[in-house]
Amino acid sequence: MLFKRPRGTQDILPPEVYSWHKMEDTIRSVCAAYGYEEVRTPIFEYTELFNRGVGETTDIVEKEMYTFSDRSGRSLTLRPEGTAPVVRAYLENKLYAEQPVTKLFYIGPMFRYNRPQAGRLRQFHQFGVEFFGSPLAQADAEVISLCLEFYKCLGLKEIKLLLNSIGCKVCRPFYRKALQTYFKAYLNELCPTCQGRFERNPLRILDCKSESCRQIAEEAPLITDYLCEDCKSHFEELKGYLKVLALDFSLDPRLVRGLDYYNRTAFEVVVEDIGTQSSLGGGGRYDDLVEECGGEPTPAVGFGIGLERTLLALQNQGILEEKKKTIDVFVVKAGKNMEKESLLILYNLRREGFKADQDYSGRSLKAQLKTADHLQAPFSIIIGEDELQRNKVVLRDMQNGSQQEVLWEELMPQLKRRLEKDE
Ligand code: HAM
Repeated sequence: MLFKRPRGTQDILPPEVYSWHKMEDTIRSVCAAYGYEEVRTPIFEYTELFNRGVGETTDIVEKEMYTFSDRSGRSLTLRPEGTAPVVRAYLENKLYAEQPVTKLFYIGPMFRYNRPQAGRLRQFHQFGVEFFGSPLAQADAEVISLCLEFYKCLGLKEIKLLLNSIGCKVCRPFYRKALQTYFKAYLNELCPTCQGRFERNPLRILDCKSESCRQIAEEAPLITDYLCEDCKSHFEELKGYLKVLALDFSLDPRLVRGLDYYNRTAFEVVVEDIGTQSSLGGGGRYDDLVEECGGEPTPAVGFGIGLERTLLALQNQGILEEKKKTIDVFVVKAGKNMEKESLLILYNLRREGFKADQDYSGRSLKAQLKTADHLQAPFSIIIGEDELQRNKVVLRDMQNGSQQEVLWEELMPQLKRRLEKDE
């Protein structure tokens, strides 16, 4: 073998691809129920969008982006996430002019250069939603409820919603200061990355996975003690709405998320049994991003869900049974020179909506019937010269082996009836 797929990527093959269809169908039906429409943005964007949008000091921008120059020397980046591109598309296409709020969803591949492990890939897929135009906690509640509804519809159990408010432009600077005052005493004990974060983005220290930083962070001041009145009442309202919807949540005052654009609501959905990468999805409010990308001030809230991780969780809980390819009917050529006839019959069957197939390796009648059995086709149609001259074909019931001659015009209605009876 000469070639292998790049590290951190996956081939999604049948039968697993049917689980992807199931997730995608669920996404489409849940989003339709909640009034979200699909948007498809390019897989690469100009690099500045992510530098500005995601934040210069985030791990994503600092070390995880697939950035390259195109032939004209412009710097492009494979999208590491979906929010910044959707904000760009929202502004560029003036979607804000159409309605007071805009509700969008997307499904697609994202790219991050990190160390691959179970549930962490370099090309992975996200389902995300972005809700533009409402500052109200009702919007946050809707987005969170949609996120949980997706898992519910898939049948996933034991998922936990972690919730926090991380303040806004008004109150966060005070919290930032309090964090710096606290961490200053431990500066030498922090990991080198967090020493760098101390000045530039001390909130990110709370998210560090290193044991020493985690221990130090345990006693750090909590954002919830620094929220301004507006942030506090927004958070209280949201919690009230979640209670009305009977959506359980755990408050996690250390939840800060890895992207810089969030304010107020931050949330994550975790599941216990998929190992270290337990975060299935997350999101929050980002009221300043649209303005930072050149638009009018526009409040927004959204989330992104990792589909590979969702699939792992579904597999661990034994929820997705793997489907096999099914067909309705197999066309069997009895005798030579039946290729044109079988092609035509297949073409017509397929146009009528039957799942139909045939042999493509010139095998004997017996071998063709074996293939039909292998494919678990409930019926096969045997075409032979004699029958064709009488405008007939042979319909064979593959379960009991019974055969009957059927007039060509009668074939499709009869096949339809018998398939329906079989169900
Ligand atoms: P995020 O937390 O960076 O948020 O990613 C969301 C989800 O994508 C994660 O919870 C995880 O399931 C999945 N994910 C992230 N990185 C990987 C990876 N390397 N391999 C596999 N899965 C991964 C965002 O991306 C935000 N744009 C979410 C958002 C939308 N916030 C507001 N709107």
